[in-house]
Amino acid sequence: MAAKRGKSKVVSGKKKIEKIRSIAVVTPGGDAPGMNTAIRAVVRTAIYHGLNVWGVEKGWYGAMNGLIKEMNAKSVSGIINKGGTILHTRRTPEFNEKKSRKMTYNELRLRGIDALVVIGGDGSMKSSYRFMQEYGVPVNVIPASIDNDIPGTDFTIGFDTAVNTALEAIDKIRDTATSHERVFVVEVMGRHNGFIALDVGLSAGAEAILIPEVKYDITQVARQIKLGQERGKESFIIVMAEGCGDLARISHKLADLLNIEVRVSKLGYVQRGGTPSSLSRELACKLGAASVEALVEGKSGYLIGSISDRVCLFPIKKIIKTKRAIDMEHLRIANMLAS
Ligand code: F6P
Repeated sequence: MAAKRGKSKVVSGKKKIEKIRSIAVVTPGGDAPGMNTAIRAVVRTAIYHGLNVWGVEKGWYGAMNGLIKEMNAKSVSGIINKGGTILHTRRTPEFNEKKSRKMTYNELRLRGIDALVVIGGDGSMKSSYRFMQEYGVPVNVIPASIDNDIPGTDFTIGFDTAVNTALEAIDKIRDTATSHERVFVVEVMGRHNGFIALDVGLSAGAEAILIPEVKYDITQVARQIKLGQERGKESFIIVMAEGCGDLARISHKLADLLNIEVRVSKLGYVQRGGTPSSLSRELACKLGAASVEALVEGKSGYLIGSISDRVCLFPIKKIIKTKRAIDMEHLRIANMLAS
């Protein structure tokens, strides 16, 4: 994206800013591998275009309470390959209150910060939009979440890494499952959706994939396993998203139906940490740079995504009204290949 500086007016909400001179970057919500790569891209792009750049620590909590520090090219060196977020994060439900957003606005004004780049998930995008609407502060959002549940981008930063982390773990579980000829239920992250479960399940050759978007029948899963046992299958892995219910309850039910012991493994937070994959990093570099260059060009209020490997800007106003749907074709293929 060619950056044009200076003349354009940033119009967002009620306030008009003639020219952006100073921006801040914040990482609210759950961390995701590649967030640091994105922070680096935002900071270095801002400096390249002659902007002052600030880092907000601890997400919206830090924004409200003035935990905002100036950043330079050096502050982001050596982080391109580090998981987590150097800015730290904190779940901040208080940001839903008007007074917290007012406090945030005051803290930004105090430092002469004209615009924000928010690196985060669905919740961060929604809160950014509310803030932008109320105070007219130009904001662009970079989708970063292991959940991949944001419309307007093929992938969120961190998703690919989380899927590979889970896949590596499940491949190991497969070894022991095969040795003991056991059934395992493996829970992966995804409180509200099954994007991780579906990708991991497909790539791991799971015998069944349970996701919150699709009603499942545990007796049918047991039936499939029995058929597999009759065919001489040596191991069975059921991948379930955390949003599908209680892991222990599901595995007990399966054990009762099959009349065998069923082992469980909850992969949990290991999926959120670790070295970002090349795909997560590449995405973070491109979207980080584009988010700042859009602001410089006078474009704000956008979700900066990537569709078919091209950076795309979608108005957040429209994006927040839509929901990303699971690709049912992936589930069909996974089930067909596991049969
Ligand atoms: O948003 C990513 C995610 O990993 C979800 O899949 C998960 O349910 C949630 O975060 C848990 O995060 P926390 O414990 O930080 O609230």
